[in-house]
Amino acid sequence: MITAGPTYEPIDTVRGVTNQSSGKMGYAVAQAAVEAGAEVTLVSGATVLATPAGVERVDVTTARDMHKAVMARAKQADVFISVAAVADYYPVDPQPHKIKRGDGNLKLELALNPDILGEVAALPKGPFCVGFAAETEDLNANAQAKRKKKRIPLLAANLAQETFGKDTNALTLFDDEGVHELPLAPKIVLARQLIEHIAKMLPRR
Ligand code: CTP
Repeated sequence: MITAGPTYEPIDTVRGVTNQSSGKMGYAVAQAAVEAGAEVTLVSGATVLATPAGVERVDVTTARDMHKAVMARAKQADVFISVAAVADYYPVDPQPHKIKRGDGNLKLELALNPDILGEVAALPKGPFCVGFAAETEDLNANAQAKRKKKRIPLLAANLAQETFGKDTNALTLFDDEGVHELPLAPKIVLARQLIEHIAKMLPRR
């Protein structure tokens, strides 16, 4: 199971809180996993991308939708690759009509979304979990800390400014063995390298 793309958290009927994720990295990982012979479910936020052939796609909008879709399928998955750029907060009181311009400032109260990857990683007998980290600075330190905090065996870190919307990327993989650099390349090339790395870490069957 793979998540991809941004989440969208409504403020009113026409506006929302989202981010610049295009979904390209997650879709490339889904394609690479199918090529490697996996049965793939892609839980996707809103993107304009075509579903890779052979992938089962589940469309979601908010982080809470994504959480529900993922948790319903997590026990059946062998591997969970969490590529989605999940919004950490959502507006608590989305308005059922377009908010009109007023005279002063507008305050939005935001509530914390569930940590989807954190919850899947904490499941007893859950899938092998792979996280992504989009950082804007201090990539190595932030990524190491994130892998420890989420208690996941493998984390792929990238710089947000190098990946969002682009067809290329560079990844740094962190696992118990150390740090593995996957230099700048098309996302599908990196996705295949990532799948190969994951396959090597899985117990032989
Ligand atoms: N993630 C998730 N649920 C969330 C937030 C993040 O499943 N509510 C997953 C992402 O898919 C990614 C990993 O956790 O695999 C790290 O996401 P990131 O946004 O980089 O980290 P956060 O844990 O949100 O930490 P911060 O935003 O403070 O850097």
